[in-house]
Amino acid sequence: MVSLHELGVTQGDVILEISYLVAAVLFVIGLKLLSHPESAKKGNGWAGAGMVLAIITTLLLHKGPNGNPIPLANLAVIIGTILVGTLIGWRVAVKVKMTAMPQLVSFFNATGGAASALVAILEFGNPDNASLLVTLLGLIIGSIAFTGSMIAYGKLDGKVGDVFSPVMRYVNIIFLLGIVGITCYVILGNPDQASVLVYALFALALVYGVTFVLPIGGADMPVVISLLNSFTGIAAAMAGFIYTNQAMILGGIFVGAAGTILTILMCRAMNRSLMNVIIGAFGSGGAAGPGKEAGTVKEISLSDASVLLYYTQKVVIIPGYGLAVAQAQHICSELDKLLSENGVDVKYAIHPVAGRMPGHMNVLLAEADVPYEKLVEMDDINPDMPNVDVAVVIGANDVVNPAALDEPGSPIYGMPIIRANEAKNIIVMKRGMGKGYAAIENHLFFNDKTRMLFGNAKDSLQKLVTEIKSM
Ligand code: TAP
Repeated sequence: MVSLHELGVTQGDVILEISYLVAAVLFVIGLKLLSHPESAKKGNGWAGAGMVLAIITTLLLHKGPNGNPIPLANLAVIIGTILVGTLIGWRVAVKVKMTAMPQLVSFFNATGGAASALVAILEFGNPDNASLLVTLLGLIIGSIAFTGSMIAYGKLDGKVGDVFSPVMRYVNIIFLLGIVGITCYVILGNPDQASVLVYALFALALVYGVTFVLPIGGADMPVVISLLNSFTGIAAAMAGFIYTNQAMILGGIFVGAAGTILTILMCRAMNRSLMNVIIGAFGSGGAAGPGKEAGTVKEISLSDASVLLYYTQKVVIIPGYGLAVAQAQHICSELDKLLSENGVDVKYAIHPVAGRMPGHMNVLLAEADVPYEKLVEMDDINPDMPNVDVAVVIGANDVVNPAALDEPGSPIYGMPIIRANEAKNIIVMKRGMGKGYAAIENHLFFNDKTRMLFGNAKDSLQKLVTEIKSM
């Protein structure tokens, strides 16, 4: 039998490969736990432990092509950089407000893309590397993920608006053709000036990331964010192939696959095809739908709202982005408890794109200890909406906008919504007549059955709770 030694494989190599396998198992356990809000924190811990294990064993046991371990000077630079990055990441994550979480996720996603693109550009031309195609793909996808996510960050933060012009579509096609053309030329032509072309590819991909995301507007952002997320994962997997590092390949594939599945789910939630989101009708906002008069809104007093809610049978709360902004989840849960104690059946209707990140409402309500059984998915609650006595819309707008059902000209037409309009009574809590993320008018607010409770959601809920307690 041939020994490992004869094969040139050391004990360290074996331990390193086993540690990557253990890391991969930890990633899978982490992903599984991340699929439920109650276990998500633990899931983060497991996956993080896998990453720490992979980093430590790589630093200790990795050998270069010449069989030598990582030089001490390089080790010092790597550890120093990891420490600085960890410190900055930790400070930012601790300080960031819950409402700015989606922006932070986009920013972190951008850094992942940038890192993969830099790996590809540094390793280009290294004869020890995997195929040229893999290196170029890592460079292109990582660069698009970087600038695309930075634009998504700006849009979520309200710093960057939608730039829609039909010309953008053609500009994007030209950029895309340019990227494909240069890639093919570098791979097939083996030109002398390859490194110059690779820098040109890098620049083109960076610009394409910007022009690709800029025109995608309003309600379509969830699809783009998850797509960019999958790009970062794929780019990281490419970087893993460059170094033939199993942990990096697997980590990247997991992120890429999760992002791809999320993109499909988001497309389904919006009832749009991916193609339609990327090159189709862009949500550019607008006023009230054609031919529809906005009408007048009716307000409801606190005491009337309290009586309506307390002495009824079936209440469905529809939370949206405003609930997160107001940080009203705890007081909302308190109202739910008060009503439930009085025999009212209280449920929460969860729209897949409510808020600003996938699962935003689930996370918020879990934070306020709302039992998970009370959260009902849109498709399950909609058939029951006509039997609901009071639909309470808290800081939601686009996800209950009936224009999605009956205004073919609307940018959100065709997107499934929570059918609050079918409930017997509707109470809408928001600060004023501000529009939602898609920047379009919402006729639900002018519906005969709707009454508005204006104010910051947290204050309104607090006053409602006080009123109900005094009844
Ligand atoms: P939105 O349509 O954004 O509406 C939120 C509403 O909350 C606004 O109309 C605002 O009206 C109100 N509001 C804001 N602050 C408030 C406060 N402190 N108290 C009470 N109300 C407040 O929210 P939605 O219905 O959740 O829809 C989400 C939108 O974001 C969709 O268009 C979705 O496509 C998009 N989006 C989602 C994601 C993901 S992944 N979920 C990512 C990017 C974009 P006032 O100003 O009048 O108060």
